[in-house]
Amino acid sequence: MKVTVIGAGNVGATCANVLVHKDFLEEVVLLDIKEGTAEGKALDIWQSAAIENYSSFSKGVTNDYAASANSDVVVITSGLPRKPGMSRDDLISTNAAIVSSVTENVVKYSPNAVIIIVSNPLDVMTYCAYLTAKVDSKKVFGMAGILDTARYKAFLASELKVSPKDIQAVLMGGHGDTMVPLPRYTTVGGIPVSEMIAKDKLDAIIQRTKVGGGEIVNLLGTSAWYAPGAAAAQMVEAICKNENRIFPCCALLNGEYGMNGIYLGVPVKLGKNGIEQIIELQLNADEKKLLEDSAVAVREVMGALDKMRSASATN
Ligand code: LAC
Repeated sequence: MKVTVIGAGNVGATCANVLVHKDFLEEVVLLDIKEGTAEGKALDIWQSAAIENYSSFSKGVTNDYAASANSDVVVITSGLPRKPGMSRDDLISTNAAIVSSVTENVVKYSPNAVIIIVSNPLDVMTYCAYLTAKVDSKKVFGMAGILDTARYKAFLASELKVSPKDIQAVLMGGHGDTMVPLPRYTTVGGIPVSEMIAKDKLDAIIQRTKVGGGEIVNLLGTSAWYAPGAAAAQMVEAICKNENRIFPCCALLNGEYGMNGIYLGVPVKLGKNGIEQIIELQLNADEKKLLEDSAVAVREVMGALDKMRSASATN
């Protein structure tokens, strides 16, 4: 199978590197607008194959979408990352223009590909790609929930001194400070998390998770890449291997959770067709309220995108 990663920045290159290490793909194409960047990184990655013992080939190209033709999955990471003091929403106008032009080219050469969006502001960039791609929404969705859940699991694992492998959790909502970690759906080795940790400690971990991306931006001066790249690669793997894995992803809701026409983080089943199923949890009143608040925040930025699109259509 063939996968293309658009954007050879930190997240895109990491995603490609994680993918080839998993060794189930024939080829990973890395594409960037900056001359030589994708070629250089893909070549460097390929040169680690003999050391790391994998066979998946990585190829880099500058803006040559023909090289991405007939990809099974395309991961879009293009766009500017956050700088300290910026919210993900501050990136909307620049990144929307980039994501829509990238998506047009992706669909032109790989009309049947499953498209995974990683660009920020995540929920709205996924919506932007969907509007541009004009394909089934089961084939256009965003990576955020796996990353946010992984951060939550990492903080819990450190606090409880357990392996992150034993933590199962669901996190919903938008990829921003209104995201909704769900302690009622969090277990450690099958044990409800509430039996393992005091409430104030869990509340602090939930708060740290919500601003987990910002914590890294403040440390590095740019946004994270190891965990985001690995999270996108895990989605690609679930699709290419038709694993039917359940992950929180940013999906278009058509009536689920009582919402329509909004891209929001919800648990889904990922398989060869992309989103095979959106899973509806029986949320309690508090959880529902948090999800609805998160939807309001996402809809606000979607509205800004709609305005920008209609302004550019009439110009
Ligand atoms: C983060 C960026 C990738 O959460 O959104 O780190």
